Formats: sequence, structure tokens, C-alpha cells
Amino acid sequence: MNDKKTIYLFANWKMYLNLSESIGLAEFYLEQTKNLSANFSVAIFSGALAFDQVSRILGDSKIKIGAQNCYWVDQGGYTGEISARMYADLGCQYVLVGHSERRHQFGESLEETRKKIEAILKNGLTPVLCVGETNVERDEGMAKEVVFRQIEAAYQNLDWPLSVKAIIAYEPVWSIGTGLTPCLRDVIALQLEIKKMVTKILGQEPILLYGGSVRPENVVEFLADPIIDGVLVGGASTQKGSWQRILENVKQMN
Ligand code: PGA
Repeated sequence: MNDKKTIYLFANWKMYLNLSESIGLAEFYLEQTKNLSANFSVAIFSGALAFDQVSRILGDSKIKIGAQNCYWVDQGGYTGEISARMYADLGCQYVLVGHSERRHQFGESLEETRKKIEAILKNGLTPVLCVGETNVERDEGMAKEVVFRQIEAAYQNLDWPLSVKAIIAYEPVWSIGTGLTPCLRDVIALQLEIKKMVTKILGQEPILLYGGSVRPENVVEFLADPIIDGVLVGGASTQKGSWQRILENVKQMN
């Protein structure tokens, strides 16, 4: 592995933690990353209610903070929604967009994903676009087509600011939270295609993450391939023990 490569360790806390648990875990993350070398880029995607407090705890440390979702209108009569503008005010750096739980459990459409990306960019934040196929789509040999459709809807003809890095998390839907992971060869082949496609549309090479049942036992395997720049970790990032073991294992890579 090229030791100059930045390795992205993104932690998606989903809806697992209440406020006090989020605060405790954010403090633990700070402690654990104190001696992490500069080529790791860690970010926490906190739940919305804990966001402000977690952001304050992280302060100007090495750990960045991101939102798990946002609404595309900046402000107005949208009861219950949280805008990209509101997150930008709280030190937010990244926003997850098109996570499979949003697409499949909340019916988020390709058009909505696109509108969110536009709002995130407008507010000076970096979208982390999540893409991936279901198991049915995989079995029908449609993985590449589905992922390409998601990327095209999100990025085609978008006025992408060159100062913003394009980040894509490839997360097969069937792998999220299931303990199942795709064969590394398939991930690499698809990531290469994604890289070519995004480079063509946006004129810049994307940062490519893998997500879906990343655990201490498999994290190094994914990160060892040069095409994969980082991981988006869900469940295993919400427990002190598994997060600590993930860090220990990736530290060995340096
Ligand atoms: P998981 O989730 O690590 O729990 O599979 C990953 C994600 O949803 O981003």
C-alpha cells in the first residue's frame, strides 16, 4: 500500500445512540484518534439531536462531523425537516446522500437525491453519495447499471465546484447490517467503473469508499486495495470495542 494515501474512516452512527451515548462515544473517538497518523481522515455522522454537542466536543480536532441526511430547501414551512443550511451552521463538513436506508426504507427518489446534493454544495458542504444494488438486482446482473443510474441522476450536468472532492460510498444494499460482504474482486471491478464514470462526468477522480458490514476482521482486506480509499462503517462504529479494534487493525497498515 502507498503510505501517502489518505485513508477515510467514516462512522455512520445511524439511529443507534441517544444523546448521552453519543457524547460518550465522541469522547472515546477523540481519545482513540489522538495518536492516529495524519494520513487518516476520520468523520462521525452523528444523529441529528446529538449533532451540535458532538460537533462541539470534536471542536477543531482531527475528527470531522457529518450529517446523515438533510432537506434540500434552506428554510421554511417544512415541519420536522433539517436543512443543509442548518447543518452548515453547526460545523458540519459532510452529508450522506442516498444512503440505501433512505432510498429503500423512506422511498427517497433519484430526483430527491439530486436536489439534496445541490443544496449541500450550495451550503459549502461535501456530499457523500451512497450507491448500491439490492440482492435481486445483483442476482439479475444489474449491479453496474443500478449504480450508474444512481450516479448519473446525482451528478449529470451538475455545476460541481472544483474545490469540493467527490466522495462515493459503494454499499451493496444486501450487505448493510447483515454481516454479508461481497467478494473483493467484484467490489474492485465496480469501483474501477465508478471511478471512470465519475471522472468523466465531473472532471475529477472521486474518493471511493466501501460500506456494508465492515468489521475489525475485514477492514484491512478492503483498505489494502489501492482503488478503495476508505470505509463507511455503520454498526461496528457505534460500539467502543469494535471501533477500537478497527483502528488498531488499520494502524498496522502504516
Ligand atoms: P453496516 O452499515 O456497517 O452496519 O453494515 C454501513 C452503512 O449503512 O453505511
